[in-house]
Amino acid sequence: MFDARIDRIRESEKRSHTKIYTDESLYSSDSWLRKPIKTVREIVPLISHREDLRILDLGCGVGRNSIFPAQEMDCCVDCVDILDIAIDKLMDNAREYGVADKINGFVDTIEHYPISKDSYDLILAVSALEHVEDEDAFRNKLLEIRDGIKDKGIVCLIVNSEVKEKDNATGEELEPQFEVNIPTPKMQEIIAEVFGYWAAIKETVVPQEYDIPRDDIVSHLTTNVVTYVGQK
Ligand SMILES: C[S@@+](CC[C@H](N)C(=O)[O-])C[C@H]1O[C@@H](n2cnc3c(N)ncnc32)[C@H](O)[C@@H]1O
Repeated sequence: MFDARIDRIRESEKRSHTKIYTDESLYSSDSWLRKPIKTVREIVPLISHREDLRILDLGCGVGRNSIFPAQEMDCCVDCVDILDIAIDKLMDNAREYGVADKINGFVDTIEHYPISKDSYDLILAVSALEHVEDEDAFRNKLLEIRDGIKDKGIVCLIVNSEVKEKDNATGEELEPQFEVNIPTPKMQEIIAEVFGYWAAIKETVVPQEYDIPRDDIVSHLTTNVVTYVGQK
């Protein structure tokens, strides 16, 4: 059962993502949709030799990081997003880029979408896991992700932590629009607990700040972006 805070955040996120997915085009935009992230581009050569390649992209949006691996490799990419419009646009993009036969889109929540054991060579969750409903769901999903990776497969997690937001015009503190907002050291501790025995490929914490539209105001957001790429 959701509380009012989660409902508020999900409604607001739905409005802002619907706007960007309507207004901007994948790979030809000035926004964050302009290209796949560097970390994903770096991972692709590490797995491209594998057979029967299966990839899962949790909170995939319109396919910024799912279309690219499908273009580069013989693979099947399962893509999950809570928004119908994201999955509709993802499939439009998959057709436009000639990879529709490699992309499966699912409208579902990350927390509900089941991950079978030993089933994926790569699981991506880019700016997505902080949107599960609470910290327990976050931990449980990490465990499911860990168990869902095949031997020598790779996980790529990019998660906002310690997010603060304030009204850009007045400086007033705002409620961060993230269902899960974990202090950075604790986030690192949870990731280490779950993936501790894996080989770390990339582990960074990068402070970022930017302005982001929130309904009728602009929020100034600060965050520590935690990246973990590990191999089983
Ligand atoms: C910041 S966007 C990132 C999209 C994509 N990962 C990328 O890097 O381009 C976050 C995405 O997560 C989706 N999302 C938010 N909460 C979700 C949830 N609980 N389950 C599934 N998707 C969710 C949003 O609809 C949105 O498309």
